[in-house]
Amino acid sequence: MRKLLQTTICSFRRAVALSTFKMPGKKICIVGSGNWGSSIAKIIGHNVKASNRFDPIVNMWVYEEMIDGKKLTEIINTEHENVKYLPGHKLPRNVVAIPEITESVKGAKILVFVIPHQFINKLCDQIKPHITEGTIGISLIKGIDEGPEGLKLISDVIREKLEIEVSVLMGANIASEVADEKFCETTIGSTNEANGLIFKEMLQTPNFRITVVQESDIVELCGALKNIVAVGAGFCDGLGFGDNTKAAVIRLGLMEMVAFARLFCKGQVSSGTFLESCGVADLITTCYGGRNRKVAEAFAKTSKSIVELEAEMLNGQKLQGPQTSAEVYKILQKRDMVSKFPLFAAVYQICFEGKEVKEFITCLQNHPEHM
Ligand SMILES: NC(=O)c1ccc[n+]([C@@H]2O[C@H](COP(=O)([O-])OP(=O)(O)OC[C@H]3O[C@@H](n4cnc5c(N)ncnc54)[C@H](O)[C@@H]3O)[C@@H](O)[C@H]2O)c1
Repeated sequence: MRKLLQTTICSFRRAVALSTFKMPGKKICIVGSGNWGSSIAKIIGHNVKASNRFDPIVNMWVYEEMIDGKKLTEIINTEHENVKYLPGHKLPRNVVAIPEITESVKGAKILVFVIPHQFINKLCDQIKPHITEGTIGISLIKGIDEGPEGLKLISDVIREKLEIEVSVLMGANIASEVADEKFCETTIGSTNEANGLIFKEMLQTPNFRITVVQESDIVELCGALKNIVAVGAGFCDGLGFGDNTKAAVIRLGLMEMVAFARLFCKGQVSSGTFLESCGVADLITTCYGGRNRKVAEAFAKTSKSIVELEAEMLNGQKLQGPQTSAEVYKILQKRDMVSKFPLFAAVYQICFEGKEVKEFITCLQNHPEHM
């Protein structure tokens, strides 16, 4: 009896000790600090203060640049504003800008990837030696890579290089509007439900509402492919076509997105995911607002190249649509499928092969959807 009592007391003491011991929160590192990276830093910086699941200091890796003779990281850490990529918005003071990638990811258990997709391979190689067990990632990057068997998603690149679980977040989210706290929705794709919920806690706000779905590959593919459609929408604007034409581009683009996903995604491809924010909603917003549409409109109106216009119009921001069209075109060529995707193919040929912009409409007129 006495022994039983002693054991009970010991268990009780242990329970009390455990309840008073606070587990340290998970350290977050945001890998990237452009227009979207800075908007997301604003949200994460605020959210971690309200939750004991996360470390209250958020690291943000910044690709160092000089702005009027001052380092961008120094400006962010003293003025709490990314004056180049998100001017006019204060970042929370607990978001710390760090110029060395290896320093920024040290001790981080959650990595948020938000850089233009052309830089991901090199950064992962730099990060790899600093990954510790149990680290998870989420990619906000819109784009695709090209692997030996065809399609390679950016989350696949991160997964393979870092050997961590990776979820994705994509949606109708023009960064400046999210930073302005204008209401919108977004989609997290996560095959691991528990991780999906951690990311939801880290990112949801009253004006940034999140749905978590399992079809992570489809969510990510939508985010990449819609940028190609947006370039087509910009061509139509530049050529002086109206809203009916834009609606047709959006619909035909969506049909090609679904067909592409059915051909190239390994898992299930349900139509429902295309109805989430990452699907039709993102497609609409990108075809009306967004940089891909804007630059494509200027391309149709001037004789300047995409590279020239990107440099002239975007102040260091990167275009995703033309490059994604090139990656998709290579994949289609390999599988002898170019003729089944005339909209995707025309965007590539106009951006890179000298096809005339007005030919874009000819491609739509002969689309297999109407045959
Ligand atoms: N901006 C948006 O509205 C938006 C919304 C949703 C998703 N996204 C996606 O988020 C990702 C990041 O976009 P963004 O808008 O934050 O970036 P951005 O285009 O605004 O900025 C470019 C970023 O690239 C960095 N950079 C430049 N040269 C580099 C190099 N050599 N190596 C590494 N980094 C370099 C710059 O410092 C800057 O942070 C993209 O995949 C984009 O499609 C953007």
